[in-house]
Amino acid sequence: MVYGLSREVRRFADLNELSASVAEDISRLISRVVKLKGRFSLALSGGSTPRLLYRILGTTYQDMIPWNAVHFFWGDERYVPHDDKDSNYKMAREALLDLVTAPAGNIHPIPTTYRKPEDAAKSYEKDLRGFFGADGDTFDLVLLGMGKEGHTASLFPESPAVEETDRWTMAVEVNDKPSKRITLTYPILNRAAVVYFLISGPEKAEAIARVFDNSTYTHSCPAKGVNPPNGRVVWWIDSSIPDF
Ligand code: 6PG
Repeated sequence: MVYGLSREVRRFADLNELSASVAEDISRLISRVVKLKGRFSLALSGGSTPRLLYRILGTTYQDMIPWNAVHFFWGDERYVPHDDKDSNYKMAREALLDLVTAPAGNIHPIPTTYRKPEDAAKSYEKDLRGFFGADGDTFDLVLLGMGKEGHTASLFPESPAVEETDRWTMAVEVNDKPSKRITLTYPILNRAAVVYFLISGPEKAEAIARVFDNSTYTHSCPAKGVNPPNGRVVWWIDSSIPDF
């Protein structure tokens, strides 16, 4: 695994301050990239940490970001209906997408209606490759969280998905509820231009220390494996996590 040149860490008093700072940063990043490229591709994270960020983007920045040029993807999805309480799509739709003017064609949810999750993963990979093409960078920004044991997206410790070197998406069974997931893999994540990890809560302290410990193997702490060689990774963390 070739590592990028740096991992930047930014610390904030609490999740409120962290989310407000990330929102301001994302607003500037989107405006800059849209001016250059005419579009912005954003991979959203699931879980609870990013909800406040999404809400701030959908309210404070409702009219300040060119949402019609933003394409929304997901880093992973629970294999449940999109109106299920556990759906990452549902969380993002309620906190952000229903508040902004992104055209329906710019919203690319991970499908969860195939009988076989593997077919859903293949379908999403086809969409992703059609959008980005075979070579070069992928997402302009990937938002990720991390579980207390070091998973990110739905790349869990010792999962076969952590060893994947070709496919961009995989259907996985994970040790969390809901267990059936679709996840992006390192081959696509490590071609992103920018990756932001949003980490809040003392229960994440041990895992984040392992990410920054050179002796840790990525298969035991998958968040460590997201480090695009040609990209920038910023760890946005709150002060509940002690120095590491
Ligand atoms: C998911 C997420 C997952 C999440 C971490 C952290 O589908 O649950 O993609 O990777 O980011 O589990 O979750 P919290 O933000 O809720 O701690």
